[in-house]
Amino acid sequence: MLDFHNHILPGIDDGAPDTEQSLILIRGLQELGFDRIHASPHIIADTHPNSPKTIEAARQKLSQAIEAQGMTLSIHAAAEYMLDDVFLSNLKAKQPLLRLGGDRVLVEFSYIQKPDHVESYSFEMQIQGYEPVLAHPERYGYYHRDFEYYEYLKGLGFEFQLNLLSLTPYYGRDVQKAAERLLKAGMYDFACTDMHHERHLEAMRAHFDKGKLQDLFDKYELKNDELLA
Ligand SMILES: [Fe+2]
Repeated sequence: MLDFHNHILPGIDDGAPDTEQSLILIRGLQELGFDRIHASPHIIADTHPNSPKTIEAARQKLSQAIEAQGMTLSIHAAAEYMLDDVFLSNLKAKQPLLRLGGDRVLVEFSYIQKPDHVESYSFEMQIQGYEPVLAHPERYGYYHRDFEYYEYLKGLGFEFQLNLLSLTPYYGRDVQKAAERLLKAGMYDFACTDMHHERHLEAMRAHFDKGKLQDLFDKYELKNDELLA
């Protein structure tokens, strides 16, 4: 199983602060059954202004630490893009986006404010050949009372990625209910950990194991491994 949404790269966003923590999270992911790991650090102009260069530097640093441990895992890296005005103007200026695999690109919305003109993001991405994957749609509380809007987003071309911890009380009852509803409606394409730190790892361990995760992926036809092709 591939986990393509996590913040294990050291020191470049609000995830692992150093390689020591990165390695703890990697070992935890492996125990949960994720044998392939693609990291997705935030790119948010205001708070985490990463670039392909900062991400590649962190990926190399982590790869060296992995090798020093005698482990054979290879880490790939893309990004999780915040859809905001800066993103849109960079996109329009044809700055290339980091892909998850194929032409897919991981994007997120603000938790606080519903994005305006969501159509322009998906339109602009798609005319440039990218396929947007929306991270944790269940965590955007402003859509909870407007379930049909999720269908609208899918119609615009967004694929949906579930945060596995959303199926537990970790992010709150409302998020859990939204995740269960989207899952039952067959609206998720992928499921990932969005692992930032050891609290996430402990919560994942408390609720999931390898067998349970595999059953979930099979039952809901989650296609993470398509991104390895
Ligand atoms: Fe994330």
